[in-house]
Amino acid sequence: MKIAVLPGDGIGPEIVAQAVKVLKALKLNIDMTEAPIGGAGYESAGDPLPDATLKLAKEADAVLLGAVGDWKYDKLERHLRPERGLLRIRKELNLFANLRPALLYPELASASTLKPEVVSGLDIMIVRELTGDIYFGQPRGISTLENGEREGINTMRYSESEIRRIGRVAFDIAMKRNKRVCSVDKANVLETTELWRQVMIKLSSEYPEVELSHMYVDNAAMQLIRAPKQFDVMVTGNIFGDILSDEASMLTGSIGMLPSASIDANNKGMYEPSHGSAPDIAGKDVANPLATILSVAMMLHYTFNDEANAQKIEHAVKSALVLGCRTADIWTEGCKKVGCNEMGDVVASALN
Ligand code: IPM
Ligand code: MG
Repeated sequence: MKIAVLPGDGIGPEIVAQAVKVLKALKLNIDMTEAPIGGAGYESAGDPLPDATLKLAKEADAVLLGAVGDWKYDKLERHLRPERGLLRIRKELNLFANLRPALLYPELASASTLKPEVVSGLDIMIVRELTGDIYFGQPRGISTLENGEREGINTMRYSESEIRRIGRVAFDIAMKRNKRVCSVDKANVLETTELWRQVMIKLSSEYPEVELSHMYVDNAAMQLIRAPKQFDVMVTGNIFGDILSDEASMLTGSIGMLPSASIDANNKGMYEPSHGSAPDIAGKDVANPLATILSVAMMLHYTFNDEANAQKIEHAVKSALVLGCRTADIWTEGCKKVGCNEMGDVVASALN
């Protein structure tokens, strides 16, 4: 197994170090090579996705990513900003399917801002399209009109084949879960998503066992807070998925718990926590490494088909929580507050 390890910025290096620690503790035959991305890429090579990093990622079976971004890069030209490195690597590796599970660990029910009865038992899989939509659509940019005023332009677009392939991923996942797919769109206003809905309906005939429903994105945002347990698999486009997955993460207590997988058509994948680089707490050993550690479990599951070790990691995370260990973001009265590094140690030693 060849893994490209891209720690990135902010808390990226410290959380990735814990995930690497856990992976090493499994004693698998893995070749790990580290490279810079995001602000770290800009600092070392003047590019948020240096050529050498992209080459390494292309040659690897899987990529483990921390997070990118820091306010200090906000003034750079757009193509040099850390986020651009992330968007480019997703596009270059064709990672069109982003899987973001929102799973509530019973131990954390009281860490959610929602009432425990609303969230307990929550288990949603958000399937977000990742290489299309308004994120990548042309034309885009800021131009100057004849009257001298400036205008910003982005374009929402999806082809039928792009919609179909993400739809397939969602239906296939639903077949292994509770066989319900909710497709989220804004078909009452946006033609792009009217097409999205048509393609999903057509595709659903290939999956007679799966129940397909549709929801407008504004309603979906509301329903996620009102009654989140009604959802099994949600499938949606890039921008809606970006927003809804952050929202869903908070149902589970902390965005620091949520892993993600971004996979291509051959199950090659990039695995990263759903959260960002949190530069305000970087280097303080307070970040929650569990989302990154759980992303490694997703890597073993989706790319390496190693269900046994994936489950070992998930169980070890659960043991750490049962033991009462909590990083600051999920800490509640009566629990033991641990730092990022200690949480990594506890999970690694709970493996066996
Ligand atoms: C995410 C992030 C990224 C996105 C940013 C950092 C470009 O918010 O992975 O959800 O918008 O996709
Ligand atoms: Mg986001």
